Amino acid sequence: MAANKKLLILPGDGIGPEVMREVRRVIDWMDRRRLVTFEVSDDHVGGSAIDTYGTPITDATMQKAKDADAVLFGSVGGPKWEKLGFDMRPEIAILRLRKELDLFANLRPATVFDPLIDASTLKADVVRGLDIMIVRESTGGIYFGEPRGVETLPDGQRRGYDTETYTTSEIERVARVGFELARKRQNRVCSVEKANVMQSGLFWRQTVTALHQREFPDVELSHMYADNCAMQLVRNPRQFDVIVTSNLFGDLLSDLASMLTGSLGMLPSATLGAVQPSGKRHALYEPIHGSAPDIAGKGVANPLAQVLSFAMLLRYSFGLEEDAGLIETACVNVLKNGLRTADIMSPGTARVGTTVMGESILRELDKLAA
Ligand code: IPM
Ligand code: MG
Repeated sequence: MAANKKLLILPGDGIGPEVMREVRRVIDWMDRRRLVTFEVSDDHVGGSAIDTYGTPITDATMQKAKDADAVLFGSVGGPKWEKLGFDMRPEIAILRLRKELDLFANLRPATVFDPLIDASTLKADVVRGLDIMIVRESTGGIYFGEPRGVETLPDGQRRGYDTETYTTSEIERVARVGFELARKRQNRVCSVEKANVMQSGLFWRQTVTALHQREFPDVELSHMYADNCAMQLVRNPRQFDVIVTSNLFGDLLSDLASMLTGSLGMLPSATLGAVQPSGKRHALYEPIHGSAPDIAGKGVANPLAQVLSFAMLLRYSFGLEEDAGLIETACVNVLKNGLRTADIMSPGTARVGTTVMGESILRELDKLAA
């Protein structure tokens, strides 16, 4: 079973390093108990790379990411780096990784863990059993479209602009990921845009419709305007199975969907590239939550989303379904046992810090593997 799977770990800023420490312990556990061995290297990214190397991500780190079988990413940013120029934002690192590794499909699950149902701001009846997968396009659209900039007009006013652009192949490849995922789930895809006001939105709808007829007629397809989708996500979130949408709408809707579940601290994500002829596929895994600078270094951060991101990595990059499932079950069991970090506290549960949460996951893993 032993294999050297090359893993690049980029903990980043804020709570990134402390939650990543708990993943390292899970990796060590896998090494010992499951005989799945990783060749792990790590590096700075974001603010910590600005401090160390003078740039949010170096070319050398980019190369390591390209050579790795998978990248496990923490989170970047914080007040310390907010005053630097637009080109020195810590966020540049994640955007550059997505773009240069061509990680076009960002999978953002919004799943409600039953023990946490009361942590949602929505009524339990509305969110119980919720399981949505948002597939967000992540290398195109307004995030990268040209032209973009700020110009001075003849009358002396200034004008800022960005461009939303999508080509046929950009839409088709991300929609394909959505349709294929749906086939393994409830077989339903909702494609989301603003076809009523945006040319690129209408084009998105036409392209997804044509692809559906050609390649996925067995999957149920619906279309929705992005504003309505935001409303429907709060009104009746369980109507959705897979949502496929653009970079910007996916950014907004995935934050919204994550809050339905009660805690940002619980949700992992995967960002996948195309499968290459060699069979290899670039992939990056990260929690949905940010660097949470306000609680960084206090030992109170919730490590579950980072650990669950590692489980996603095992599943999507290495096909280690059983090991991924083991980690996910261990995380749920810890919650069932009533342990909570501060962000998911509710009456009658016990408050623990990052390390104890990590240790409890290991204990559950031991029990499950016994
Ligand atoms: C996300 C984040 C990023 C984005 C930022 C950090 C650039 O909000 O991953 O959703 O907007 O894509
Ligand atoms: Mg976002």
